[in-house]
Amino acid sequence: MRMKLVVGNWKMNMTRAEAAAIVEEMVRAIDIRPSVEVAVCPPFTALDCVHHALRRRDLHLGAQDVHWKEGGAFTGSISPKMLADFSCRYCIVGHSETRGRFGKLEVPETTVSYFAETDETVNLKIKALLYHNIRPILCVGETLAEREAGQTDAVIAEQLRKGLEGVDGSEFHEGVVAYEPVWAIGTGKVCDTAEAERVCGMIRLVLAEIFTADAAAAIRVLYGGSVKASNSAELFSQENIDGGLVGGASLVASEFLSIIASAQ
Ligand code: PGA
Repeated sequence: MRMKLVVGNWKMNMTRAEAAAIVEEMVRAIDIRPSVEVAVCPPFTALDCVHHALRRRDLHLGAQDVHWKEGGAFTGSISPKMLADFSCRYCIVGHSETRGRFGKLEVPETTVSYFAETDETVNLKIKALLYHNIRPILCVGETLAEREAGQTDAVIAEQLRKGLEGVDGSEFHEGVVAYEPVWAIGTGKVCDTAEAERVCGMIRLVLAEIFTADAAAAIRVLYGGSVKASNSAELFSQENIDGGLVGGASLVASEFLSIIASAQ
C-alpha cells in the first residue's frame, strides 16, 4: 500500500520571514496521520529557516532543483551535497518551468531558452540525488499543443524513459513521479479526474517496463496542476493518484492544510 504524499512547491515565493510564518502556522495546525506524508519545497534561500522550523514535526523538506555535480565552477547552482546538508528528503527535477514549458507565460517569449532543462540533465540530476539519498520528484507532462495533437502518452513515456535511463529500480523505489499537464499549471484549469487517473495509470505501466512491476507498484505517482482544496479529495481518491504536487495553493496555510486533510 503506497502512502499518500502531498508536496508544496513554493516556486519563487517567500522571504525567510514569510516562510517562517507559514511553517509556524502549519506546524501548529497540522494533524498528520500515519497515512499521509507531507513535504514543502521552499526556494533555496529559505531552506535553512524551514529546515529548523520543520524539525519539530514529521514534515519533510524538499528543494525545487539541483545541479548534478558535487561542486565546482557553476555560478548560481546548488549541488546535491548542499541539499543533503539541510537533510532534504526530496528534490523536484524536470519541472515544466525549468524545462521552459509554460502553461501561462510570464516572461517574454524570447527569454524562454533561459529555462533550458532537458531529459539528459534531468537524468544526471536524478542519479546525483539518489547517490545522496535524496528522493527525486520527477515531473512529466504534456503541453496543450501536444495534447491536442494526441501526443500526451508518447511525450510522457519519452520523458520517463530518458529521465530514468540507467537508473536502478531498487534505488528509485522511494522516488516519485509527478504528472503535471503543462496547461494546468498555474492556470486554474485542473485536469479532468478520470483523465488524470488514466495518465497516472499509464505512467505506472511505463515505469513497470523501465523497472519491474514490483518497483512500479511502490513508486508514488502524484498529480499536479491547479490542485486546490475543492478538487483534491476527488483526485486523491483515484487508484493511481498517490497525492499531489501543489503550487499556488501551498502558499496559503489554511488551503494547504485542507488539501493535506483530504489525502487522509
Ligand atoms: P499550481 O502549480 O498548483 O500552481 O498549478 C503546480 C506545480 O507547478 O507544481
